[in-house]
Amino acid sequence: MNAITIAIDGFSSCGKSTLAKQLAAHLGYTYIDSGAMYRAVALYVIENGLVRDGKLDREGLLAVLDQLDIRFQHDPLANKSVTTLNGRNVEKEIRGMEVSRYVTLVSPVPEVRAKLVRLQQAFGLEKGVVMDGRDIGTVVFPDAEVKLYMTARPDVRAQRRYLELKTKGVEVDYASVLENIERRDEDDTTRAADPLIKAPDAVEIDNSDITAQQQFEQALDVVLGVLAQVGQE
Ligand code: DC
Repeated sequence: MNAITIAIDGFSSCGKSTLAKQLAAHLGYTYIDSGAMYRAVALYVIENGLVRDGKLDREGLLAVLDQLDIRFQHDPLANKSVTTLNGRNVEKEIRGMEVSRYVTLVSPVPEVRAKLVRLQQAFGLEKGVVMDGRDIGTVVFPDAEVKLYMTARPDVRAQRRYLELKTKGVEVDYASVLENIERRDEDDTTRAADPLIKAPDAVEIDNSDITAQQQFEQALDVVLGVLAQVGQE
């Protein structure tokens, strides 16, 4: 069977990963969280003294970039895929506020993007993948059969993220979550290298006022329409 590629792009905390996981589970596809890879690079620079006074030691990062080994592995205990950095499970660390704060120092670096885009394209060689991020439909898989572009109002996204962090036991306040989301929106859309933009052939879904289930149904309609066209339903 010829599987297709599903690219999901959009702003931070827009429900992209929830949707991507639902679609992947429904279709029996592999889900790949490209943001986790940028987060792993951010964790590396934090842990290795490559951020000083909020500034990235760019030369230092470029000197070791080849040595960063970022993968997704199945964790049998958690029964889910986790992100590994040089063989270590960093799934928990990369979700914290510190990494969220510093990830936009590394994500605009063209050499970082080139390395991660190459890896992402390799994951997608066999198709049958759902990948979410910022540049998946524009740069990583410009030929993806399905492209979805997710949006939601910043206050709605901040509230969801705040509740998610609280549930995980992370100490945060709503104002700093909102501030982080607004700053990342600005950084993601204005950076020179592969900024977040809607691909001309992407279908936009604004999920501010719909449930995750309604969002899934809308997206699945799009996917099933494409699968029917390519004769794979
Ligand atoms: O999806 P996320 O919030 O986990 O992504 C973390 C950061 O990585 C986000 O601020 C933007 C960046 N990113 C990117 O530049 N390109 C991608 N394909 C995915 C994420």
